[in-house]
Amino acid sequence: MPKDPRTGHLIPGLVTHPLTVPDSIPRPPYVGKQEYNEEGYGDTYTEEEIDRIREASQIAAGAIDAIADEIHPGVTTQHLDLIGHEYMVKHGAYPSTLGYRGYPRSLCTSVNEVICHGIPDDTVLEEGDIINLDVTAYKNGMHGDTNRTFGVGEISTEAQDLITRTQNSMNRAIKAVKPGRPISVIGRVIESYAKRFGYGVVRDFTGHGVGRQFHSGLIIPHYDDPETYSQLIEENMVFTIEPMLTLGGIAWEQWPDDWTIVTKDRSLTAQFEHTLVVRADGAEVLTGTLR
Ligand code: MF3
Ligand code: CO
Ligand code: CO
Repeated sequence: MPKDPRTGHLIPGLVTHPLTVPDSIPRPPYVGKQEYNEEGYGDTYTEEEIDRIREASQIAAGAIDAIADEIHPGVTTQHLDLIGHEYMVKHGAYPSTLGYRGYPRSLCTSVNEVICHGIPDDTVLEEGDIINLDVTAYKNGMHGDTNRTFGVGEISTEAQDLITRTQNSMNRAIKAVKPGRPISVIGRVIESYAKRFGYGVVRDFTGHGVGRQFHSGLIIPHYDDPETYSQLIEENMVFTIEPMLTLGGIAWEQWPDDWTIVTKDRSLTAQFEHTLVVRADGAEVLTGTLR
C-alpha cells in the first residue's frame, strides 16, 4: 500500500538494551536525578567557554553525519541511536539526553508526525518516512545541541518541500540574528516564511539558551511575539534556533511514554536546529558541518 504522504500512523515500539557510558567520561549534573534545576547561570560566554561549546557542538554535528549514512528503509531507530551513542563516546562526550529528566536514550528520533522527543526503539523505518535526528553532546562542561530531518529512501514532494523549507526558515532566522535586535526577530522571520506555504509553526516547543546547561531558561520562540520576547540579543550569547513546521495544525498530544510529542492531526512535521553564538556582525553557527 503506498504511503499517504500527509499523515503518519506511527505506533510506540519497544525500548530495549540500556546504553552505558564509560566512567571516564564526565556526566552532566542532572544525570540520575528526576528533578534538577539547571536554570539561572546566564547566557553569555567568554571565548574560552565558546571554544568548549564549539567542541561539544562539533561532536553532536559529527554524530548526525555518522548516523545519516545509516538511514535506510529497514533500519530501526534504536540502531541509529546506537551509532550516535558510540560516536559521542568515542569522541569523549556524554550524550546529554541519556538520563535527562528520565529520558532513556542517547538522542531523539522523531518520525513523520512526531514533532520532537521521539524515543529510539524497534520501529523499522520505511521508504517514504521522514526522520529527525536530534543530538546533544556534553564535553568539558558544555553542551552543544543540533538536529536535522532526513528522508528515508524516496519521499513525497510535499515531504521534501516541508524539509527544505523548514531548513530555510532556520537559516533565514540565523541570518537575522544581530546584537541589539529583540529575540522576537527570530520568530518573526520563521513564522512569516512558513506562512507563505500554509505550514503550521509549533509554539509550545522552542529554542533555548544552551552551554553550561542543556536548557538555560532563555526561551527562543519560533513565532512572532514582540511583546513577550522584547529582550535584546547580546554579543557572546549562545542559544539554539530549532523551528518545527507542520503540514497541518500545531495542536499536539504526548504518548504515554511521557516524551513523544505528535501532531494531534497526525500531519507530518520537520525540524532543524543549530547552536549559535552571537558575534558583533551576526551569528556564528557552532554546530555547522561541511555536509
Ligand atoms: N535536544 C532537544 C532540544 O533541542 C531536547 C531533547 S530532551 C530529551 O532541546 F530528553 F527529550 F531528549
Ligand atoms: Co535544543
Ligand atoms: Co536538540
